[in-house]
Amino acid sequence: MTRKKVTIIGAGATGGAMAQRLIERNICDVVLQDDPQFAGTMHHGKALDEMEAAAWQGFSVKISATDGWEETANSDVIVCTAGAPRKPGMSREELLNGNATIVRAKISEAAKHSPNAVIIIFANPMDAMCHVALKASGFPASRVIGQGGMLDSARYRYFVSQAVGVSPLDVHGYVIGGHTDTTMVPVVSQTRVGGVPLTDLLPQDQIDYVVGKAMRGGAEITELYKTGSAYYAPSAATVAMVETIILDQRRLQPCSVLHTGEYGIEGVYSGTVAQLGDSGVIRTFELPLTAEEKEKVVGAANATKELVKLITD
Ligand code: 2OP
Repeated sequence: MTRKKVTIIGAGATGGAMAQRLIERNICDVVLQDDPQFAGTMHHGKALDEMEAAAWQGFSVKISATDGWEETANSDVIVCTAGAPRKPGMSREELLNGNATIVRAKISEAAKHSPNAVIIIFANPMDAMCHVALKASGFPASRVIGQGGMLDSARYRYFVSQAVGVSPLDVHGYVIGGHTDTTMVPVVSQTRVGGVPLTDLLPQDQIDYVVGKAMRGGAEITELYKTGSAYYAPSAATVAMVETIILDQRRLQPCSVLHTGEYGIEGVYSGTVAQLGDSGVIRTFELPLTAEEKEKVVGAANATKELVKLITD
């Protein structure tokens, strides 16, 4: 059996953390692609450093680095982390055109070399960057997916777990909508802890607190790091998606997909609960939202639609 191959574009803090998490799962080979003009030889260093951990981490898969694209050929999954991270005080939206130029260039090269891959977009503003990647790749929308909801849901589950006093594993809840500080929608009405509705477990002021913590989760980390954005939780969220795809696990994962009528939304990338497998998005699941949640989800998609209009080609 040939091993699955995953290309990670961008060997910065996030790309490096993803590569490490993935390789130590021992499920695929990884190629770390970066541009020597920005990365110098860092990506080659990270690949070699990680390979030298094989004896103690017990993996037999391979990680390599490349400045070009030949080595990325026929990847099963391409994760694009390339792009500037936000700095303290910045919104994700402020990165729009700078990151669109980078994502466009990277994805058109990557797609040419791996025409059957599933693409996962990480760069911000993530939902808008999915539109850039869809166009640059020429792939069907089922094979271009954004990771935001996975990260936002992980943060939400963590903050709920701390407020209730249980393991995050026993919190079942999704954050959908946009991957921005103001448009993400933690779906409180459908959040369960051990099957019990969250609204039966926490008073409204505590629910408001955990929702606020989740929505500002990315901003809080940039304020603490000072020089860049989060990478431990983002890498964990993305790697969970990669695993679902390459192992064809068919798990339900909240992520950004091109909407085709979900919640009345058409033709816009936004977060929703999607089933993922080796062909990308298999289907989506519409949650029974309250009227207020639905309004926010529609508002998030409209905000992304407006942002996409500002992308200069
Ligand atoms: C975050 O929320 C990087 O957008 C990412 O931390």
